Amino acid sequence: MQGGPYVKAPLMSRLFTNVNNFLLHLALKIHAQSHMRILVAITGASGAIYTQRLLDRLDPQEHEVHVIISSYGQVVMQEELPEGLQLDEGVTLHAAKSMNVPFASGSNAFDAMVILPCTMGTMGRIAHGYSEDTLLRAADVMLKENKKLILCPRETPLSLIHVKNMELLLQAGAILLPPNPYFYSGARTIEELADTVVARVLDHLEINHNVSPRWPEERD
Ligand SMILES: Cc1cc2nc3c(=O)[nH]c(=O)nc-3n(C[C@H](O)[C@H](O)[C@H](O)COP(=O)(O)O)c2cc1C
Repeated sequence: MQGGPYVKAPLMSRLFTNVNNFLLHLALKIHAQSHMRILVAITGASGAIYTQRLLDRLDPQEHEVHVIISSYGQVVMQEELPEGLQLDEGVTLHAAKSMNVPFASGSNAFDAMVILPCTMGTMGRIAHGYSEDTLLRAADVMLKENKKLILCPRETPLSLIHVKNMELLLQAGAILLPPNPYFYSGARTIEELADTVVARVLDHLEINHNVSPRWPEERD
């Protein structure tokens, strides 16, 4: 039977992989963003573990990190994070209703916004320009200012309406990064599996990390 991807490769091939990985890490380091202002939004979809683990990796000493939670985000999060969301000192939490925040205006837009997890409702409202609360307005600002907006939409199955909204958002410049974990990292716990999603989010934020093994790095 043919071996799987983790069968021991011949020496030259492993050497090539290691050199390749070294160069990849170097390139990521060179391109890694220094100080950024990042807004992390949480909505009422399943997946609070991803948000917690992303926030655990965003160093408030290195980046300015802000968090905003939709009212349904609070409800679903209570189910999934019984101990509540843990925020590092230095992370700023915002109310969903106050527009008295820098990211509500294009004159003070942040560098990046991540909505993780993102409901179909929030996705639809952003796609159609609803801007009636702080979270939606922030996303609207990111799009109109051509800033990085990463949506992590979670729903299954998808309706045509969901897919059409995704299409519209892609056309408007958003990054759609569904929180779909990958299973080739050798993850042994739910946390490690969740990190495979967090790793992709950090990649798109251009933040250097080694949260989860990259293909074809060898597992421990
Ligand atoms: C336990 C639970 C899990 C949910 N999971 C999802 C989900 O994965 N995706 C989704 O689009 N909506 C989900 N919903 C529905 C949203 O929470 C609901 O549509 C809400 O109005 C979304 O509001 P928001 O987008 O402002 O957070 C869930 C609701 C509950 C109660």
